[in-house]
Amino acid sequence: MDQIRIRGGKPLNGTINIGGAKNAALPLMAASLMTAETLNLSNLPHLVDISTMVHLLAELGVEISMDGNAPNGGHIGRALNLRAENIPGHTAPYDLVRRMRASILVLGPLVSRFGEARVSLPGGCAIGTRPVDLHLNGLRELGAEIELAEGYIQATAPNGLQGGKIIFPSVSVGATENLLMAACLAKGETTLLNAAREPEVADLAHCLVAMGADISGIGSDTLTIQGVDSLHGADYQVIPDRIETGTYAVAAAITGGDIILKGCGIAQNTAMIDVLRRSGVTVDEVEDGMRVHRTTGALKGVDILTEPYPGFPTDMQAQLMALMATAEGASMITESIFENRFMHVPELCRMGADINVHGASAIVRGVGHLSGAPLMATDLRASVSLVLAGLAAEGETLVSRVYHLDRGYERLEEKLSACGADIERIESK
Ligand code: EPZ
Repeated sequence: MDQIRIRGGKPLNGTINIGGAKNAALPLMAASLMTAETLNLSNLPHLVDISTMVHLLAELGVEISMDGNAPNGGHIGRALNLRAENIPGHTAPYDLVRRMRASILVLGPLVSRFGEARVSLPGGCAIGTRPVDLHLNGLRELGAEIELAEGYIQATAPNGLQGGKIIFPSVSVGATENLLMAACLAKGETTLLNAAREPEVADLAHCLVAMGADISGIGSDTLTIQGVDSLHGADYQVIPDRIETGTYAVAAAITGGDIILKGCGIAQNTAMIDVLRRSGVTVDEVEDGMRVHRTTGALKGVDILTEPYPGFPTDMQAQLMALMATAEGASMITESIFENRFMHVPELCRMGADINVHGASAIVRGVGHLSGAPLMATDLRASVSLVLAGLAAEGETLVSRVYHLDRGYERLEEKLSACGADIERIESK
């Protein structure tokens, strides 16, 4: 398994282009199942998770062609043309679903368009049990019959789905996306209450509207969908990745550097930017992006509570913990979304961080400096927090199991070394 070696202590300076959002691209790709016509997606990131979704959709019968090479040999996001004209099978197999939980997003489209779906239960993952009860209860509200057998969800709606009123007891990004897609072809009106407001949900809604869906309330916690008979193809560009944006903003802050992030917006990152500014990092809006720099003074510890959007994103919790570990003073970080998302803590402590976990909260007391060490990545965002800590640490850091990183960060070493980081991938023999 590959490793990443970092020799820390160098301030990062330069420009980083932000890619398309993984967590928008995945539901958008699943939406291709909603029509027999071609959905052309652009600005997709080159990530393992995207390839896994390509594999799953191809397994279902979706014709997929891809291109990702800019005419001048530069680098642009991958373009995918997806056409779900002939979908003989409606099964998402365990072998693929276990690799990526987002595979569950084919459930809503398959049931609503074909009246049946057989999708493996995704199972838990490192950060929690991650049930799918909200997805299934929502589909039942729309008239689907749901059975669980042999580790699979068997959903059927022989007469099609009927519109209904779904009140989510808790905010769920994936359940909102699954039910939003399912409702587009249901008969009548569907209302989703307490819907997730993440920008990736809005991106999916905008794409569905471009495909002929009738959706109102986009961006709010109440989505109203008037079912239509069918959807058509569309061309759609994926929004920038706000978590990649935040991750590289922390890279600038934790190394005392100065980085321009291109192709991203401030608007979708307000909670994260507010935390950075309160800790003493300067974030300025620039043309087509933002400039993040800290050239003087120590950082201050800031308390953080992860919440559904527009609150502070759970996907940035591990990265901010690495930053707070180097700040002056203490920070209390509370993880309210997932029940086991502190696995980066023991690894950061091996670098000299002073962090104590009490239930859903971690008390971080900043230390003067971190020391490089051999570390083990456990999940996507925990892995990148170890890389960030390594960039700031004295000495050498060696991160193993970097396949976690490859699921969500495109050309990470390239983007960081272009800003002066001493970072390289050691490929396993
Ligand atoms: C999406 O996961 C993201 N993944 C996650 O990003 C992100 O952390 C999460 O939303 C929260 O923002 C993608 O978009 C592909 P949820 P999702 O349903 O949809 C519980 C990353 O690092 N829940 O909003 O699976 C669940 O256990 C990944 O890019 C139920 O109880 O998250 C969790 O505690 C990690 N029942 C909470 O809700 C359900 O049926 C929020 O989960 C569904 C969820």
